[in-house]
Amino acid sequence: MTDISHDRLLIIDFGSQVTQLIARRLRELNVYCEIHPYNSVDEAFISGFAPRAVILSGGPDSVTRDGSPRAPQKLFEMGIPLLGICYGQQVMMHQLGGTVDSGHGTAEFGRAFVTPQNSLNILEGWFNDGDEQVWMSHGDHVSKIADGFEVYGTSPNAPYAITADVARNFYAVQFHPEVHHTPNGSKLYENFVKLAGFTGDWTMGAYREQAIAAIREQVGDEQVICGLSGGVDSSVAAVLLHEAIGDQLTCVFVDHGLLRMGEAEEVVTMFRDHYNMKLIHANEQELFLGELDGQSDPETKRKIIGKLFIDVFDKYARPIGAKFLAQGTLYPDVIESVSFSGGPSVTIKSHHNVGGLPEKMDMALVEPLRELFKDEVRDLGRELGLPDSFVGRHPFPGPGLAIRCPGEITRPKLEILRKADAVYIDQIRKHGLYDDIWQAFVAILPVRTVGVMGDGRTYDYACALRAVTSVDGMTADYFPFSHEFLGETATRIINEVEGINRVTYDITSKPPGTIEWE
Ligand code: XMP
Repeated sequence: MTDISHDRLLIIDFGSQVTQLIARRLRELNVYCEIHPYNSVDEAFISGFAPRAVILSGGPDSVTRDGSPRAPQKLFEMGIPLLGICYGQQVMMHQLGGTVDSGHGTAEFGRAFVTPQNSLNILEGWFNDGDEQVWMSHGDHVSKIADGFEVYGTSPNAPYAITADVARNFYAVQFHPEVHHTPNGSKLYENFVKLAGFTGDWTMGAYREQAIAAIREQVGDEQVICGLSGGVDSSVAAVLLHEAIGDQLTCVFVDHGLLRMGEAEEVVTMFRDHYNMKLIHANEQELFLGELDGQSDPETKRKIIGKLFIDVFDKYARPIGAKFLAQGTLYPDVIESVSFSGGPSVTIKSHHNVGGLPEKMDMALVEPLRELFKDEVRDLGRELGLPDSFVGRHPFPGPGLAIRCPGEITRPKLEILRKADAVYIDQIRKHGLYDDIWQAFVAILPVRTVGVMGDGRTYDYACALRAVTSVDGMTADYFPFSHEFLGETATRIINEVEGINRVTYDITSKPPGTIEWE
């Protein structure tokens, strides 16, 4: 649903994996934009959309190949500012009369440095100390620029790294300014939207209003159910939906007995008592822990939990007769689940959540956070009035403590794990480190070790502390705690948690490790 009350920017998508990041950079600049695939954008569409500016994204194809994607030719005659990125740059040159080659030796993948040639409006404030780091990912290259264009920056393998036809407001760059590895790339977008006349009127408040209108339009008078885990994503989705459709929403909170200390009470208090939502607290601890009894293989455990989760959800949700299932799917979840190669991808871990539910229950999905990244969801949560204690929470996996308890899962081990985890998180909060860490937790190890406490011998469990920094959970580094912090935390856990007599710190990054232990 296009929002017609704001200035709009159109992103024509040629299939790059990072196109969403362009949208994200623009939202950071409070610019309303929509991404549309190149094959659904024709002249009529563009006229109707009436964009103030257009960005042509990157993409995997080669413009030298017959039948490869193109932009509608009319785009170049509409008198609006255009920015072409990577494949978008090549499409632009090709369609405006320049030449693109698939020559050998001119590919560039990864970090490169661009040297400025002349000053240019979209580069203002960017090239501070000469060469600028950018991220390149191209096989083809422009070998002749179109009439009217001039060169403003070069890299060793891209003589036309930055070109522009300033009179027509056409800009073309070979690299990706939207990615992390182009550290000052946002400046380029900022300058581009400024020259296109955007006023920055697209805020999280505006996003919220539009999302609410879109939810209402999608679901009409039907009932909607939502799996609420108490994590940031499902919490924000639930509050947004509740604001949109009130009592047409029922949330199901599955308590599988694998939650952290006090978690179930917190979720119920917040959503049922504070927000007055229709919330079903499905206490199914016996069922889950019973089925997991004696199981120690990680994938078997995950599969059992995944299947039970769907059964339980179905049991509680079916009587409601909902036509829609709401999920807090984020953009990184969307890309992670798509295989771009088209080939079979290796299953590292079975992610379960509510996958498989829509088919089983014949429901359509409502995914109001589908375009957002984690930190944007947090902003939206704040905008909706969710307290910081919820919005800033570390991610918690669907299978819960099961994947932090390698080997067999027993109630006594879960109890020990809960206590140790609570002490560890308390330490992290006390030291003011919680918000610097992506995720922190304790894993209880399936080994007992010998210790000495007082004058007695102990033979108790060892545990591992885990804390990582990450941008999206797909890669991660261990958090560099001080030795003092680690020492103090180990002492507290051993003193306060009966059943643990040894504490280790996991310093594995991802890859090669994963964040969770199973
Ligand atoms: P890994 O362990 O794969 O985890 O490095 C990456 C991120 O995903 C979370 N995770 C899950 N989240 N269902 C979830 O909702 C799952 O099955 C699941 N497995 C892992 C993990 O906590 C980390 O944030």
